[in-house]
Amino acid sequence: MATRLRNLTDLDFTGYNRPIVFLRLDLNVPLKNGVVTDETRITAALPTIQWLLSKDCRLVICSHLGRPKGDGYEKEFSLAPVGERLAAHLGKDVLLCADYLMDGFSRIVQQMGQNQIILLENLRFHKAEQKGDRDFAKLLAADKDFYVNDAFGTCHRADASMVAVAEEFPLERRCAGLLVQKEIEFLDGAFKNPQAPVTAIFGGAKVSDKIAILQKFTSIANNMIIGGAMSYTFLRYLGHTVGKSRVEEDKIPLVGEILRAAEARKVKIILPVDHVCGTEFSETTAPVPCNTADIPDNLMGLDIGPRTASIFGDAIRSSKVVVWNGPMGVFEWEAFANGSRRLAEALTQCEGKTIVGGGDSAAAITAFGLETKVSHVSTGGGASMELLEGKELPGIKVLRAAL
Ligand code: 3PG
Ligand code: MG
Repeated sequence: MATRLRNLTDLDFTGYNRPIVFLRLDLNVPLKNGVVTDETRITAALPTIQWLLSKDCRLVICSHLGRPKGDGYEKEFSLAPVGERLAAHLGKDVLLCADYLMDGFSRIVQQMGQNQIILLENLRFHKAEQKGDRDFAKLLAADKDFYVNDAFGTCHRADASMVAVAEEFPLERRCAGLLVQKEIEFLDGAFKNPQAPVTAIFGGAKVSDKIAILQKFTSIANNMIIGGAMSYTFLRYLGHTVGKSRVEEDKIPLVGEILRAAEARKVKIILPVDHVCGTEFSETTAPVPCNTADIPDNLMGLDIGPRTASIFGDAIRSSKVVVWNGPMGVFEWEAFANGSRRLAEALTQCEGKTIVGGGDSAAAITAFGLETKVSHVSTGGGASMELLEGKELPGIKVLRAAL
C-alpha cells in the first residue's frame, strides 16, 4: 500500500486552546566537561520548535542522551547543558523536569507560561524507554494533545518515545517534524526515479559494516566509488598487493558478489589507483606516497592518493545525484585528510543533489568547513545508514498514512 509521511501541516489545531505537544527530538549531542561541543542536532531542531511555538503550542520536549545505565539519574548524561543551549537559541525559559512520571506533572504542563518550554530529563534514565514499554509510554503521552517526532537520528530505534508513545495518539494527531521530513526527502526520496548519473561513494573502515548498503546501491547507482580502508579488501580480491593495510579476509568472497552484481547491472566501480601510506597506524607515522594501486609489503594505506582524488572528483562533479557514506582515509590526522577533503570539495562543485550521510562523513565535511555547501548533511548516523539501505525505520513507520 502506498503511504506518505504525515507532516506538521497535517495537524488540525482547530478547537484547541494552546495545544500541548509531545515533541520527541534527538538532542543526543557530544558533551565535554558538561559543555555541548557540537550543536548541530540542537540547531537542526529549531525550525520545528519555532513552527509549533508560532501556533501557540505548549511544548513538552524530550530526548535521550548517550547510553546511561537506566537505573536513574547520572549527572554525566543529564540534558541540563542541552536545555541551556535551547534556552539561549529560543530566548525562552526551558524547565528541565526529572519528575515527569509523578502525579502532579500534568498540572505543571497545564500551567506552562507563554515564555516557557518543558524539557524532560534524559528518557534513558528509565530502562523502560529502550524496552519500548507500553506503561511508560502511556504515562509520557498522558494529557498531551499531539505527538510530533523530529528525532531523525533515533528513528531506527523502537524506543518507547519513538513508537509506543506515538501509538497512544490517533494517527490524525501525530506527525513528523521538519527535520525528519527533510531527511526522508534526501535519504530516500532522492533515490526514487533519480536523474542519472547517480554516484554513491563508500568509505570507512569495514566492508562488513556496509554490506547491505553496497548491495542496495548496485541497483540504484551508475557509479560506485570505493575508498577508505574498505577499498583494500576490494583491491585484494582483484589481485593487488595491499601490504600491511587492513583487509577483511572473510569478506573477500562477498566483494566478488558485489562486483558481479555491479557488472550485471552495468554499474561502474571506481577504486583507488594510488595511495598515501604509512608504516604503522599512528598519527605520527610519516606519509609515504604510493603511486600505484599496489601497496608494498612494509606499508599500509591510510588515505587515497592524488590521482585517485582527481578520478573520484571527476565522477562526482558530473553526477546528478551524489551520496557520500564514509571517509576516504584517516581524516582526523592531517597528513591523511587530503583524500576526504578533495572529495568533499568535489561535492561542493557538483551541481546536482549532494547528500552526506551522518556519522563520520558528516564529521569530515564539517571538519573541512564545507557542510553548508552541499544539499544535505544528515543528522543521523545509524538512522541515515539504515534508511539508505532501504529499511523502513520503526520511528517513521508510525507516522505514515495511506495515500
Ligand atoms: C545516535 O546518535 O546514534 C542516536 O542518537 C541514537 O543513539 P543510540 O545509538 O545510542 O541508540
Ligand atoms: Mg548510534
